[in-house]
Amino acid sequence: MGIQGATALVLRWTALVLRRKLDRTPMPVVPLNEILDPAFAERYGVAAINVVDDLSLDAVLEAAVELESPLIVQTSLKTVRTIGAMVLSKMFRARVDEVPVPVALHLDHCPDREWISICLAAGWSSVLFDGSHLDVVENTVQTAEVVIEARGYGAHVEGEIESVLGVEDGIGSDEAAEVHPVEVSARFISETGVYAFAPAIGTAHGLYKGSPELRPERVTELVAQHAIPMVLHGGTGLSEGQFTDLIARGCAKVNISTALKIAFVESHREYLEAHPGKHDPPSLLNHVRAAVKEMAEYHIGMFGSAGRARAWTAAAG
Ligand code: 13P
Repeated sequence: MGIQGATALVLRWTALVLRRKLDRTPMPVVPLNEILDPAFAERYGVAAINVVDDLSLDAVLEAAVELESPLIVQTSLKTVRTIGAMVLSKMFRARVDEVPVPVALHLDHCPDREWISICLAAGWSSVLFDGSHLDVVENTVQTAEVVIEARGYGAHVEGEIESVLGVEDGIGSDEAAEVHPVEVSARFISETGVYAFAPAIGTAHGLYKGSPELRPERVTELVAQHAIPMVLHGGTGLSEGQFTDLIARGCAKVNISTALKIAFVESHREYLEAHPGKHDPPSLLNHVRAAVKEMAEYHIGMFGSAGRARAWTAAAG
């Protein structure tokens, strides 16, 4: 082998070693801004769906791929605690590396700074530091610290100052929280540097008992002061008209959790009731996966993000 051949071999080997090193470093899969900047600019919504395990992750990814839509996969703190941050992150990366649509991994309501740090280090693309239990001054200080911490990982932060009505996976309250004037939210956004903000607009986690009284004008007022993506919490059960209106006003991230839980649990029940003496896990799991996928397709279809991954894929390759 000549000197040129040997040099080429060493270079190839070095590149291989470097690549393997990089492959082992957990990195955010797609930064949240790459998904939400175009959604906010063009006023479509991206579904942010809380998954509970690998099956539900597969199902929502299949829906996004089929509809050529970007997607935000969310995990509640309860899910992270149950499965483990590193296992979840690896599971997420292994699957998302295989799909041709942009997907981000987001940590939903997390009041615990230690878990925020754990998830950022494990490769989450973004986190919601939920400081709504703190007074606004303390929430501002702590959220600003989380923004600095997240930047070190190339990750983004969602902030909130009013807790969303309803308990979701053990976090939140069934008592309506104080709603601050829009100016307070605007100050919080500029002082913390959050990338996205979840305003109180009358939505709630869980199932609505009647038709919710929404305050969509708060989204418009906030976006007029700070043109950043707003986050719609409590998506399950809103009408198509309510989604469309809120997305048009600037809610680029649309959270769905309860609908997944219902599809997941009810499809188990449905299969087991229809097949009492059967012990066939793959068939049961296929039935559940199909139900969760249908739920995801229903929401993605309503939010206007179908086909939007095409532009992203074209730009990337
Ligand atoms: P739902 O449970 O009402 O779908 O709300 C989801 C959510 O806002 C998660 O933060």
